[in-house]
Amino acid sequence: MSAPSRGFATLCIHAGQEPESATGAVTVPIFQTSTYVQESFGNPRNGYEYARTKNPTRLALEELLAALEGGALAHAFASGMAATTTLMLSFVKAGDHVLVSRNTYGGTYRFFSKILANFGVTFDYVDTTDLALVRASLRPETRMLFVETPTNPTMEISDLAALASLAREASAANGAKVRLVVDNTFATPFFQKPLALGADVVVHSTTKYLNGHSDSVGGAVICADAEDGARIGFAQNAAGGILSPFDAFLVTRGIKTLPVRMRAHDANGRAVAAWLSEQPKVESVIYPGLPSHPGHELARRQMSGFGGMISFDLGSEEAARRLLDKVVVCALGESLGGVESLISHPATMTHASVEPEERLRRGITPGLVRVSVGIEDVEDILADLANALSAV
Ligand SMILES: Cc1ncc(COP(=O)(O)O)c(C=O)c1O
Repeated sequence: MSAPSRGFATLCIHAGQEPESATGAVTVPIFQTSTYVQESFGNPRNGYEYARTKNPTRLALEELLAALEGGALAHAFASGMAATTTLMLSFVKAGDHVLVSRNTYGGTYRFFSKILANFGVTFDYVDTTDLALVRASLRPETRMLFVETPTNPTMEISDLAALASLAREASAANGAKVRLVVDNTFATPFFQKPLALGADVVVHSTTKYLNGHSDSVGGAVICADAEDGARIGFAQNAAGGILSPFDAFLVTRGIKTLPVRMRAHDANGRAVAAWLSEQPKVESVIYPGLPSHPGHELARRQMSGFGGMISFDLGSEEAARRLLDKVVVCALGESLGGVESLISHPATMTHASVEPEERLRRGITPGLVRVSVGIEDVEDILADLANALSAV
């Protein structure tokens, strides 16, 4: 008999997290071990041989992530970039071509353009909101579409169902699988399910909303297809960029409250975006939840919420500096997705590794400020921003 299907919040608390067999511990224990005693020669217990290959705490998180994204298999890594590294090692080789959203996280761009490009893989950075451009940019040697939506930090929204059908067409034309990979870090599976929309693979920086408490760095790859998942598992073990048991415990614990936190981020995000839009010193606000956002209608269809990530332009680096030196509740720092509000200057912080002309092409202007709206009382966030804006 098949198991009953469960709601998302129930999965967050129970998927992969059966009570531990020896003691009944309700919380998945931290198995802080590098190896396992074998029953007898050639007979490891339950397949546990060495902790790079398999660890019960990590496995619980991997089962949980697979359930939340609706994938066949998930693997957890030491960082979001370690996840992307293993993904690329698994699915591309010299001579292959990859189409990438032009506005991905700066570190993804750095890894592709400064490291993988040296191994004979070619990358084109295109506006993946423009389906005609994506179609025109496909080549016979294209093997992957790597898409971030919403993008970091300009919140561009790409149509995942349409991109999935372009990837399927390209697979047929190229006689080889062209995978659609989606970085779902900003939306999380609570707001967006790329695999259900036809994507092949989801990657995450679990450092952000999934863990949600700014106390762990990690990443994940979730595959729709079990064979793809097995390839990632093989490369995870071979290359070794695994998530530690303690971090796996933290991310599993963080995910238990993902729905509650995401609803709160979304409510505060909407309120802060609406408030920023009314401030004369703010030249523009980029938030998919605003009707003025070019991807608003698509975001409404494709996502079940808009989240807490907002970028806004103050017109100059000097104006941005004045605001960022004055905020108190919104902590000045890189990263995002924690319960606390974090504010940053993409051009000099998260996207400093992108060349200045390329940055401008992507809309990362000197006056652009990005805020990851936390779940504090929204009045305190607004008062903090109002006070900081008074210095601009
Ligand atoms: C959208 C996105 N993907 C991937 C990463 C990389 O993740 P990590 O910092 O965990 O390596 C980040 C980091 O900021 C990100 O924002």
